[in-house]
Amino acid sequence: MNHLMENHFLNRIDAEALLKEYGSPLYVYDEKTLRERIRDMVNLLPYPWFGVSCSIKANSNLHLLKIVREEGMDADAMSPGEIFLLEKAGFEPSQIFYVCNNVSAEEMQYALDRNILISVDSLSQLETLGRINPDGRVALRFNPGSGAGHHEKVVTAGKKTKFGIQEDLVEDAKAIAKKYGLRIVGINQHIGSLFLDGKPYLESVKALLRIAARFENLEFVDFGGGFGIPYRKFHGEQRLDLKALAEQLAPLLLEFREKYGSDLKFRIEPGRYPFAECGAILGTVHAVKTNYDTKYIGTDVGFNVLMRPILYDSYHEIVAIRGGRMVSDPDGEKVTIVGNICETGDILAKDRPMPELKEGDIIGVLDAGSYGYTMASNYNQRLRPAEVLLTQSGDIRLIRRRDTFEDLLAGYNF
Ligand code: LLP
Repeated sequence: MNHLMENHFLNRIDAEALLKEYGSPLYVYDEKTLRERIRDMVNLLPYPWFGVSCSIKANSNLHLLKIVREEGMDADAMSPGEIFLLEKAGFEPSQIFYVCNNVSAEEMQYALDRNILISVDSLSQLETLGRINPDGRVALRFNPGSGAGHHEKVVTAGKKTKFGIQEDLVEDAKAIAKKYGLRIVGINQHIGSLFLDGKPYLESVKALLRIAARFENLEFVDFGGGFGIPYRKFHGEQRLDLKALAEQLAPLLLEFREKYGSDLKFRIEPGRYPFAECGAILGTVHAVKTNYDTKYIGTDVGFNVLMRPILYDSYHEIVAIRGGRMVSDPDGEKVTIVGNICETGDILAKDRPMPELKEGDIIGVLDAGSYGYTMASNYNQRLRPAEVLLTQSGDIRLIRRRDTFEDLLAGYNF
């Protein structure tokens, strides 16, 4: 067993008892890991003008959001639903930033009614906002022309994505703002999701600062998220070197701040980083078979539970759980681990060396705390799993119950 895994929280729970009580599959989160990862981000730079907003599309469980708030993060929202949840978790309007994309005037109004600042990412949306909120405050999302990410579907800047305003439209944006008396108080970007090498991020920081220099009286510049975590833990994948990143980031920001000459704030917007490693999915093996040359391990962790592998070919380490301990075997037989959804693409892991697995065995899917439950669905009319939290005192707390059949009827009028 990889030594990094020795301390994993899955070794500190009774997986069998939990599945018995809350059903299989089950999302399990570890409070200690969550708080540690949040602190990595919050303490990235030790300046009062540096802030961190949590991007809650990665995980929007109310109980986890309360921990995020307690630890001193603000938050960004992508929809009125996310704003609604953030308010329920106790975030103040001034702590919420609505970074929207292609939304209706009504959705903008939802944020305005709550005094929440909106970032628009096209001249078209700037016009819409100007019409409904003349003389208001606004932020602009720019696309610095190059992006980064673990898959083409999550690269959110560059010449081939729908996001952001391109740099050569700065003057046009200013003209629209002027027409409506809008005050441009911030600019932001998000170049994409999951980098493990800080270089593209730093390049994008420089690009956004270049754009920032063309605006007067900005209150903040927000560089977005994308901070990666090592998913291939059993293959020695290195962590993102936050210390090195901070050492390169700090002088850029200090120098710019000095030149800019006002009380400018800087922000980042991580989503994956705080949550990914604090979450795992427990599942059960229900069938083992060989179809022609492939050995399939049939589990209840379908893509309704975890979409990342089918959407992005994402890799998650998978372990067997035996006698309360995680077990892996890099020299084990290679198997293909699949779910119970009626689609051929319902594959959790292909050709994966695993310890021998048989019906009734428990598996753990690691690093599933981000974009796991938030992207889960009722496809095939399956019930979304329960979520439990292993608290710092070692107790298990149910933080969202499993769906029920009645939930499947919730939207109907009889
Ligand atoms: N800010 C904005 C405006 C974003 O659109 C996103 C993510 C973030 C921040 C946070 O990015 P992060 O730090 O998590 O990389 N479902 C995909 C990831 C999609 C990310 C979308 N935007 C996945 O499972 O990999």
